[in-house]
Parts: sequence; structure tokens; C-alpha cells
Amino acid sequence: MGAAAYFSPTIAFGAENLRWWQKNPVYQIYPKSFLDTNGSGTGDLQGIIKKLDYIKSLGACAIWLTPIYPSPMVDNGYDIANYTDIDPRFGNMDDFDELIAESRKRGIKIVMDLVFNHSSDQHSWFLESKSSKTNPKADWYIWRDEKTNWRGIFGGSAWEFCEERQQYYLHTFAKQQPDLNWENPEVRKALYDAANFWLDKGVGGFRIDAIVYIKKPSKIADGKPDMPDGMCSVHNMIANTPGILDFLHEFRREVFDGHDIFTVGEANSVKSEDLSKWVGKNGVFDMLFEFNHSNVMFNNGDEVWHHSKPIRLSELKKALSDSQKSTKNLWYPIYFENHDKPRSVNNFFVSGTDKKLAAKALAIVLFSLRGTPFIYQGEEIGLDNTKFDSISDYDDISSHGNYKLAREEGLSDKEAMKFVQKFSRDNARTPMQWNSEKNAGFTSGKAWLPVHSDFKACNVEIEEKNPDSVLNFYRKLSKLRNSSEILLNGEYEELYPENEEIYMFSRSLGEKKLIITVNFTTHDVKLPISGGKKVIGNYADEKNYLRATEAAIYEF
Ligand code: GLC
Repeated sequence: MGAAAYFSPTIAFGAENLRWWQKNPVYQIYPKSFLDTNGSGTGDLQGIIKKLDYIKSLGACAIWLTPIYPSPMVDNGYDIANYTDIDPRFGNMDDFDELIAESRKRGIKIVMDLVFNHSSDQHSWFLESKSSKTNPKADWYIWRDEKTNWRGIFGGSAWEFCEERQQYYLHTFAKQQPDLNWENPEVRKALYDAANFWLDKGVGGFRIDAIVYIKKPSKIADGKPDMPDGMCSVHNMIANTPGILDFLHEFRREVFDGHDIFTVGEANSVKSEDLSKWVGKNGVFDMLFEFNHSNVMFNNGDEVWHHSKPIRLSELKKALSDSQKSTKNLWYPIYFENHDKPRSVNNFFVSGTDKKLAAKALAIVLFSLRGTPFIYQGEEIGLDNTKFDSISDYDDISSHGNYKLAREEGLSDKEAMKFVQKFSRDNARTPMQWNSEKNAGFTSGKAWLPVHSDFKACNVEIEEKNPDSVLNFYRKLSKLRNSSEILLNGEYEELYPENEEIYMFSRSLGEKKLIITVNFTTHDVKLPISGGKKVIGNYADEKNYLRATEAAIYEF
């Protein structure tokens, strides 16, 4: 089949023409925290194989694995030391081949995470590059004699001095994650070869990490300080530098074209109006995580946690609607959680909200917006944030960076910890809760990160047995969406956008219409529609108003 034939159809096509990855949800696994089968305290590939039937029960067509390559784990695998191997903590290549084969038997594809903006400082490419100014890989990273005032995303200067070369190298993230030099064609070729290695293994697609940073401005210079320490955010200096799409089109041609896969780019701050340049037939990827709604609590790409503001529902709704509108003829990855975000029941609802109702309410939105739902491990059982008392209990590098900056900006330990507890990425990384036994059934050893204290009340085994559980609600919704032409491909329209209490939108196809409503408050609110037939909801019975956190789909 010709390359172009693999690109997404538009809304003009019927749901029967949608591609496999548009018809069913994707399940995201953070392997380190999923299931440990050898008592090491860290999850592994055999653990994933054991749970494939569980993942299938959610109707998933693919599993996105966060990085499983050899890594010093400074950023939990996003610092890669070898792009074409498996970290022994997770298993070996035979385990990976078995995972692909066992998944295939169940109609599930494996999607790899490509971290191509940077490697680990332990990658042989970097070790060679830093060894001298004249070695063959001298130009594979970004080296300069002078540093600029750029602040890295995890805090501190984005430049690190290297004794061997007597030069600075750029690192958008941690200093152990040096940025690769995409201007060098040899670097690009090495990266494409690595991606093609996984395609040859039979993977079903890629999630492409931090892709907006690969192109640097031709003149690397100081920026206008936008941080109290006189620095300026590296994100604002390099994200979406003009010319980036030329690299990405080459990437598409050299890797994606001609394969029956899907690609989803992580592209913080690509604007809704630019999406068609990035996604679909004329773009590069099939879908884009553009952070519109998930960063609604931050100003303009600034992800500094203590600079966050409370979410206004109308802003969250606008962000979701903008993405829906701008992908009307394209496709969208719908998500409320991933390994970088706090748990959604805490993130999007006011404190005091019933967590199970909230989890079901967001599930209704997840499965009824237009696009592919991405379920993050644990979201489907309604896991909520964990809470560690001291910064030293946190593993997440970004929690340490944010804490340090908060203290430098004058916050007390207690104030800074409030933000860490709210936003830490460890909230999403505590071990998966399988049962009420030791370590929630995650490991027989010592878990690398403490298990959430509520595991005896909230785990898969308990939820399996309860027909009203969040887990069984997810299964019902997944079935409903995957077989509903209107939910798969109907047109989206937002209703009452200014309302600060409820989110309401319709999906319609010809004469058929569904209306989806969610009450984001903890009190009763008026339901501004009547006459529809309730298809599914998070309360069993029906009233002519919406109760606390009530959500439902009505058919008209
Ligand atoms: C992406 C990943 C995140 C990682 C960062 C650096 O944002 O999702 O976990 O820390 O890139 O690779």
C-alpha cells in the first residue's frame, strides 16, 4: 500500500473507514511501576505480559510503553544510554519479542517512546563527543564556549561545563540529558536507524518525546529574563523554532511513511491554529499532545508549579473545545493523565469531591470527545494523588527542581511542599494497585516508590468484583464508544461555554445527537436540557437536575 494511504481519514469518511488506532483506546504503561515479577521492586516486561488480558478487557488496541531502554534512570528512562536495547531492570530482548507476540495474539500493538531531543550523558555518543573537540562525534551535541541565561526545564542553568572540552553543552532537561544536534545529518540518520530498528521488530507506533525542542535558533543568545533569578526559560527560547517542520518531514519520510503504525508527538505549546501543519496528511504525526487543556493552570508554557493558578472551568472547556475544533478534519489524542501529571481526580476537581464519582465523570468525557482515548495505568481504577511529607521522599527530578526554585523565590518548606504534593509526577508513578496483599500485589520485594496508602480500599481485585466500580465503568464506556458511530466520528459542539459549573457538549451525526454533561461542582445544579434518554451516567437513577459531580450521556 502507498505511504499516503496510511494517513488519517477526515470526518467526511464514515466511522467504518477509521484506522485501527482511531477505533479503540490506547493504554499507557509506566513499566517501572506496573508489575514486578522477580522481586526486584521495579516492574518488568514479564509483568506486562501477565496483564495483557486485563488491558484487553479495557478494549485497548495498543500499549504505549514509556522508555524501557538502558538508562541510568536519572529521569526514569527518559535519559537513554542505548536506543536499541532493553534495560536489564525490565528484562531482555527475548522478553520484548514475547511481549510483541503475546500482544499480537490479543490484537494489541506495542508503541515505543522515542526520546530523540536528548540522550543520556552515559550514551557512548556523548562520551565520545565530550572527549575532545576533534573526535568524530564532536558535533553530535550542542557545544558552546559561552553559556546563555537559559534556565533548564528541571531548574538551574540549561548549560553544563565539561572539563574535557573546556566548553558548555546544552541540556533542555537535566544535566544528564544533553541535547542532540539535529543540524548534523549523521545524528538524524542514527536516530532514524534506531526508530527503524523497532519497526523491524513489529511495533505498532511511536510516541515522540519533547519533539518541539529539537531545532535550536541559529543564533544562540541570551533571552529576556522571565525568571526572578535573571534567567529565561529554555522552553520559551527554543520551542517550535522555525525550520523544525523540515526536520520532522524528513523524519516522517525516513521512518513513518509506508507503515501501518500511528504516531503521536509530545509538543508542548503548539497552537491549535497550527495543528494542521503538524498532524494528518499534510503534517507529520497522526496526533499531537499539545498540552492545551492539561496546562490550563499554567501561564504560557511556564510549568513552574508555584506559579500555577486555580483552574477556571470555562478556560478548561475552551482549551478542550479549541483542540476539538482544530482537529475537526484531523485526529486528536484525548487524555487527562500521563506519567508527568498528577492524578486527574485531584487535578480537575475541587477538594471535597467524591473521587469515584469524579473518576467516572472524567471517564465519560475521555470516551466521548472526538479522538483516541489514552488511559494511563491506574486512572481506570480511580487512583488519586499520593502524599509524601518531605522533599527527600520524592524521586521525581522535576519535583526537586520545582521545590528548589520555590525556596529560592522565598516560599517556606511547608508552602513549597504544598505545590510538590499537588503537582509531583510521583503522584502518577506510585505502583499499580492490583490487590490488598503486600505492596498492593505489585512486588514481593521493596517497591522502588512507596505504594499509595489507600491500596487496601482501591485496587483492581476489589474493582473487578464490584459491578459499579470505576474499572467496570471504564469497560462499559469503552465498549459503548468503540461501537458507536456517533462517538467515534460525530461532530463536536460545545454548549453553554460560559457556564462555570457544568461542561456540556454534543456529538452529532446526521439526525442523531448525544449530549454529554458533567457537573464539576459539589452541589446540585440546574440541567439546562430535558427530554433526552440517559445512555450512561455515574449515578444510577435520574433527576431533572445534576447532583454533585454527576455526569451522563443523553441520547436525543
Ligand atoms: C517528556 C517526558 C517526561 C520527561 C521529559 C524529558 O516530557 O514525558 O517524562 O521527563 O520529556 O525527556
